[in-house]
Amino acid sequence: MLPSLALALGHLQIEDAVKIYETRGVETMAVDHCSIDIAPGEICMIVGPSGCGKTTLLNAVAGFHDLTSGTIRLDGKVLATSGQPSAAPGPDRVVVFQNGALFPWKTVLQNIVFGPFAQKNMSRREAIDKARALMADAGLTDIENAYPGHISSGMSRRVEIVRAMMNDPAVLLLDEPYRALDSLTRAMMHEALLEMHARRPVTILFITHDLEEAVFLGHRIVVMSARPCRPTLQLRIDMPHPRNYAVTTSDAYRNYVKATLDAVQIEARKSFAANETEGQG
Ligand SMILES: Nc1ncnc2c1ncn2[C@@H]1O[C@H](COP(=O)(O)OP(=O)(O)O)[C@@H](O)[C@H]1O
Ligand SMILES: [Mg+2]
Repeated sequence: MLPSLALALGHLQIEDAVKIYETRGVETMAVDHCSIDIAPGEICMIVGPSGCGKTTLLNAVAGFHDLTSGTIRLDGKVLATSGQPSAAPGPDRVVVFQNGALFPWKTVLQNIVFGPFAQKNMSRREAIDKARALMADAGLTDIENAYPGHISSGMSRRVEIVRAMMNDPAVLLLDEPYRALDSLTRAMMHEALLEMHARRPVTILFITHDLEEAVFLGHRIVVMSARPCRPTLQLRIDMPHPRNYAVTTSDAYRNYVKATLDAVQIEARKSFAANETEGQG
């Protein structure tokens, strides 16, 4: 396949997505007619009040649950649509969670090649060569024989992303992956992620509560409303990639953070007020 065609993969279209949970007869609408069109290779950051429905939306893209109505497409293929079971989680969409799960009894390299070995979609040699190339890109060359318990949590996150990239996914789905890290480690993770993305421009859907993280990483920020979530503001971050921490002192950066904060605060207040009312009812 031509490289230009390979780069064109990863067009994620969320159209009028609605998700209503039903638990013992009680309905909770988590996602309300949400539409987001994410271009191949785009880094799309999702921010919004806690509990507004961000994880629900990401899980629908991942194939962890179905949609009540609406459609999600990846490169034209329907992943989820009303009244149909969604496409099962697959190697085209890989999720990296906040509390990632490396096998503690396997070395870093064994963790990374585990998926391709289990699926038998690559030879052992191919998988190991690819793992080493990805690890070199991620600055992880010296730790392939280390066990997860002996590396830092920042390194673990990088290993998880390398593992996720082994099958050349069209989309990486990241749900607050750096939440538990200290701010210096997080800053290093951000630069490492952008360097990886510059080499392998996978489409990224990334949820965060950290507005600076959203501005630093994203081509675009989608601010979600209070629950049920729906985009209230879509902000294009017009600063060239790959970025490094020098941009965080620029006026443009500060202005983007302020604009995002203003929009999120409006929704956070609504969310707070709704919870207060629910509490009294
Ligand atoms: N499996 C579920 N069953 C019922 N309600 C759920 C379920 N998962 C999440 N919710 C509810 O849906 C809403 C959105 O949750 P979530 O998507 O986790 O929000 P966020 O990720 O934005 O914090 C919350 O009110 C939450 O309690
Ligand atoms: Mg969440």
